[in-house]
Amino acid sequence: MHRFVEIKNLEKTYYGHGIFKSLKNAVKAVDRVSLGIEKKSIFGLVGESGCGKTSLVRSVLYLDPPTAGEVWVDNTLLGDLPASGLRSFRQRMQIVFQDPNSALNPKMNIQNSLEEGLVNRGFDAPRRKKQVSRVLDLVGISPSHSTRYPHEFSGGQKQRIVIARAICMEPDFLVLDEPVSNLDVSIQAQIVNLLQDLKEDLGLTYLFISHDLNLVAYLSDRIAVMYRGRLVESGSTDEIMNRPLHPYTLKLFSSIPGMETTAMTDDAGNMPESSSDGVKPVSVDTRGCHYIDLCPLRGRECAARDPQLETVHGSHKVACFKINKCMRRIISTKP
Ligand SMILES: Nc1ncnc2c1ncn2[C@@H]1O[C@H](COP(=O)(O)OP(=O)(O)O)[C@@H](O)[C@H]1O
Ligand code: SF4
Ligand SMILES: [Mg+2]
Repeated sequence: MHRFVEIKNLEKTYYGHGIFKSLKNAVKAVDRVSLGIEKKSIFGLVGESGCGKTSLVRSVLYLDPPTAGEVWVDNTLLGDLPASGLRSFRQRMQIVFQDPNSALNPKMNIQNSLEEGLVNRGFDAPRRKKQVSRVLDLVGISPSHSTRYPHEFSGGQKQRIVIARAICMEPDFLVLDEPVSNLDVSIQAQIVNLLQDLKEDLGLTYLFISHDLNLVAYLSDRIAVMYRGRLVESGSTDEIMNRPLHPYTLKLFSSIPGMETTAMTDDAGNMPESSSDGVKPVSVDTRGCHYIDLCPLRGRECAARDPQLETVHGSHKVACFKINKCMRRIISTKP
């Protein structure tokens, strides 16, 4: 028996296109990621730009099939479904991307955009109209505006409409890939509140993705931290926020104003180096810990083998060979 969503050893490798297609140019954007999501919970995935979050969720939903690994949703192995079976199963799994402008067809009015999927499900016109009105109402857009076009709405309203389109299909699993990152800060909280209300009212299960740790912590029951294709730490929100252990997680936390966490230093007290603009993917033949170049605690074994996520306490898991050293440092730096 699996959890509602169960992802096992998922991999996504990009081999490039045309003359660039070769093993030498191949990058492993997602590297053996495993995680489980309980029904009606919110699982938060946090990581810097370029770490593989979108690649992971596109693979999870088979929008772009994984190179290896398994995805189970409600005890159905997605990789085993024929194309037609996957198409109909996908109604149950919807995704909201970051940019509402590219998500909506500018030439289609809202009614037509939202009812596209319902046509495929065989809903007749009156039933489609009723369903579209219902979901627009749920997201706080007046159903009387359904004949308008995307450009007639603000960014926040457009994202509400994208969310309405997702729930129009009556899914039970919703992937939210940085759903508020493109919106004004003043609008973000409204959309986050809307997502919380919808989850409760409709009994949804969320995979919520963001580079914003505070936001992930605010919403999620469980959190996983991703770095260069791999999960480096996972646990309950309490475990991750109150006892972060992986050197990369500590580095991520130390950059957030108001967090008391200090980054791990080396034996001489030097801080870890910073990566500049997001993180770079790893090539397929990379061995060892992906954080090794920046890690103040790196040692010989970190280059030789891949650290695996291992349980530290309760449901808290960390992938680091120097976990005992991490724990000792944390204890010694706590007042
Ligand atoms: N279709 C693609 N072909 C080749 N490389 C890709 C493709 N999509 C993403 N990548 C690369 O994979 C890495 C992870 O990207 P992405 O999943 O978009 O990360 P994130 O969503 O965390 O910012 C990046 O280095 C990106 O350039
Ligand atoms: S495995 Fe080694 S390099 Fe990776 S985070 Fe742990 S100490 Fe640092
Ligand atoms: Mg992304």
